[in-house]
Amino acid sequence: MNLSIIVPTYNEAPNVAELVRRTTAAVVGIDAEIIFVDDSIDDTPDVIREVAAAAAIPVRVIHRDQATGGLGGAVLEGFRAASAEACVVIDGDLQHPPESIPDLFARFGQGDVDVVVASRYAAGGAAQGLADKTRVFVSKAATAVTKAMFPIRLKDTTDPMTGFFLIDRNAIGLEGLQPRGFKILLEILARKTLRVAEVPFAFADRFAGESKASLRQGIHFLAQLTALRFGKMSLFAVIGGLGAVANVAIVWALTSAGVGYITAAVIAAEVTIIVNFLLIERFVFHDMRHEASGVGSRFAKSFLFNNAEAVIRIPIVALMVSTSHISAVFATAITLVVAFFVRFVFHSLVVYAP
Ligand code: GDD
Ligand code: MN
Repeated sequence: MNLSIIVPTYNEAPNVAELVRRTTAAVVGIDAEIIFVDDSIDDTPDVIREVAAAAAIPVRVIHRDQATGGLGGAVLEGFRAASAEACVVIDGDLQHPPESIPDLFARFGQGDVDVVVASRYAAGGAAQGLADKTRVFVSKAATAVTKAMFPIRLKDTTDPMTGFFLIDRNAIGLEGLQPRGFKILLEILARKTLRVAEVPFAFADRFAGESKASLRQGIHFLAQLTALRFGKMSLFAVIGGLGAVANVAIVWALTSAGVGYITAAVIAAEVTIIVNFLLIERFVFHDMRHEASGVGSRFAKSFLFNNAEAVIRIPIVALMVSTSHISAVFATAITLVVAFFVRFVFHSLVVYAP
């Protein structure tokens, strides 16, 4: 078996026969199978079994009674059940033309990528199946925000939210994936640095039935995005917090040993900055290191940024205290919080930029 075609379905009975017909016709000459991963509450599984009996290639259905993880969970279940390493994921409503499957497979066959994304937004692609203007806007805005949040891992794709793609099952880190909501490709691309190529396709209208997209899915998506992105950020925060505690402890130890306050503060700040760099290298941005500049250059950027930040923050606090009624402690707290976000963004986008 060279190709497993995974079709997540939720109440798609009227689309099954047409999907299997067009897919089998499209993959003639490829040793392929179709796996439906079904969470339907209608007769979709029966229809699939009926169609499977007459199909020219192997067609299986996995019906799940507990629809764990929704669409994303279904797709992961499909990967686990697949006979081939190369797995295509395609919607069951024919919004993704099966005729594009050979394009994906051929691109994968060049052997230099782990994922091939079928993109609505690449040159030659089209998104006319996003019927109304609101959905076009939501889709484009979500894509832009998502790409901005993962500037490195999503740099090679114009359509991280597509549900039509091919993956090398052994390359994507299947075990580390958490199926949540609709956007399983985003989960795959955001968690691990993978080699990605794109193939354009035209997103069509549904053949039959209704979309299962909903406000609930939208909320799921935001939760997914936050967990994926701010997982790194919370680690960065914990390390930063430990650094602040260490800073105070060093100042205390040195001043108790008779060192002057200014000297003690400078030594504590520099030690904290260096240890902080070593820790974020090891624990936060470890997966981004090999694509970024050399360690010397990373250290120089991080070191200069943190020193500049420490120096600039003092006059800013003074300015805040003198121009408004807030206390020095409160002003310091505000600047520390702002500095934290700026530092995180600077490290994600500059220090560890590819
Ligand atoms: N097994 C399973 N479980 N399948 C599901 C579930 C579920 O809970 N929810 C939806 N599906 C199946 C549908 O039956 C269909 O085959 C496919 O997933 C896509 O669902 P649609 O209801 O057609 O959603 P859509 O057209 O709004 O969303 C499509 O476009 C998005 C990009 O705009 C999908 O392709 C998404 O994956 C894609 O991100
Ligand atoms: Mn659809």
